[in-house]
Amino acid sequence: MEEQFGTPLFTALIKHAKKEPVQFHIPGHKKGNGMDPEFKKFIGRNTLSIDLINISPLDSLHLPQGIIKESQELAAKAFGADYTFFSVQGTSGAIIAMIMSVCEPGDKILVPRNVHKSIMSAIVFSGAIPIFIQPEVDSSFGISHGITPNSIDEALVLHPDTKAVLVINPTYYGVSGDLKKIVEIAHLRGIPVLVDEAHGAHIHFHQDLPLSAMAAGADLAATSVHKLGGSLTQSSILNLRGNLVSPKRVQSVLSMLTTTSTSYLLLASLDVARKMLATEGQTLLEETIKKAERTRAKINEIEHLYCMGREVLESSAAISMDPTKLLISVKELGITGYEVEKWLRNRFKIEVELSDLYNILCIITPGDSEKDLQILVQALTLLSQEFKNQADRYIDSSVLLPEIPLLALTPRDAFYAEIEVVDFEESEGRIIAEFVMVYPPGIPIFIPGEIITKENIVYTQKNIGAGLPVQGAEDIEFKKIRVIKEQFDN
Ligand SMILES: Cc1ncc(COP(=O)(O)O)c(C=O)c1O
Repeated sequence: MEEQFGTPLFTALIKHAKKEPVQFHIPGHKKGNGMDPEFKKFIGRNTLSIDLINISPLDSLHLPQGIIKESQELAAKAFGADYTFFSVQGTSGAIIAMIMSVCEPGDKILVPRNVHKSIMSAIVFSGAIPIFIQPEVDSSFGISHGITPNSIDEALVLHPDTKAVLVINPTYYGVSGDLKKIVEIAHLRGIPVLVDEAHGAHIHFHQDLPLSAMAAGADLAATSVHKLGGSLTQSSILNLRGNLVSPKRVQSVLSMLTTTSTSYLLLASLDVARKMLATEGQTLLEETIKKAERTRAKINEIEHLYCMGREVLESSAAISMDPTKLLISVKELGITGYEVEKWLRNRFKIEVELSDLYNILCIITPGDSEKDLQILVQALTLLSQEFKNQADRYIDSSVLLPEIPLLALTPRDAFYAEIEVVDFEESEGRIIAEFVMVYPPGIPIFIPGEIITKENIVYTQKNIGAGLPVQGAEDIEFKKIRVIKEQFDN
């Protein structure tokens, strides 16, 4: 434990900057001296003095042998991994490397449907074939939870040649399924389990939070330290344990995908975030959980609002939850979560993590003060008073995630196929060549290679009509869509 107080990377950067080196290397702003003065003043000299590059005293993320290696080793110990790799390209970068380290073209990978877009990008890049598992749906909140061990077992019986199983643990909304059981099932067949742990950087550090990927015995986990672990935006880690995946392969794939100009600000922030999680995480999270639980209870006293709690944990697709996530259903007020997001911004300068048709999501971390939480409760109380008269416009959340369309081509083949543009409304039955998703939370409605259904056209239009951010297609107005050109034999 004592060694976890050390910050080899951050400390070495400060030492280096204090020597006031004469820099004839990039970045060309040279400690900020060659940069816009207003920006320089705002950012500050300290920050700019450690915006450095991989000169030899500072090691290299592409072949760590010095301070980066030391820092990664400390992170591995803290997160219960055998190896930790730092990512300066977010968890998206770590996820793409994770999948490409394990899957080759034509390999099958089991994936829940509610995956983040980076997983679909990885499937296109790797040429893997996704076998989708429908996550369990919570029709009260209109969200999806985890996947059941049973569904993995059944899929592996149908597809015994599966190369990897991917699990989201926990979901964006903080819910986890029985990951340990899924790992047991996959490992019985020698199949590695890859975890999207974007929303779980903190969970390894408190016993009341869902089991972390490494603690559950998973093989790889891509973890957004920047989201809930206290590091700078874009900094993430990829953890590895066991012997089903080669660390050398992971290092080389990561290196292929990573910029050669790695930001030392991001790397140093991972070093100090790991220190804080390992040495103070338990105490900080204990307080954070209490703050969040108190706020949850207060929100649940407000008429027409409902903040999700442990009562939703009813199956093996939802066995634990992260109480620091406040998912608040606003549908009883007859307004959408998206409208509430705007209302909170305009009236209280409150910015939420996400909104959808039925809910808003607020994340609580050690960075929140009691005052911030009081403002949130006050604002929500006023919201309820202002809109309660239209509660008869109750929004029904039972129409939600549509059926998964049939996959006619691998996403990669569809992505590279000859395409044509047709009217979206008239596209039923055609094979789509692009992604369509609502972001956040980034759940695909269509992925390249799927056959367009009427139900999914209507679902997409419903989301657009509600003002939700539907993305992915080249035509941002969704009047046209790119589909695979039909081949006619003559
Ligand atoms: C479930 C999930 N996975 C992966 C990511 C990607 O993380 P990053 O933004 O660090 O690239 C996100 C981001 O929102 C996410 O919600």
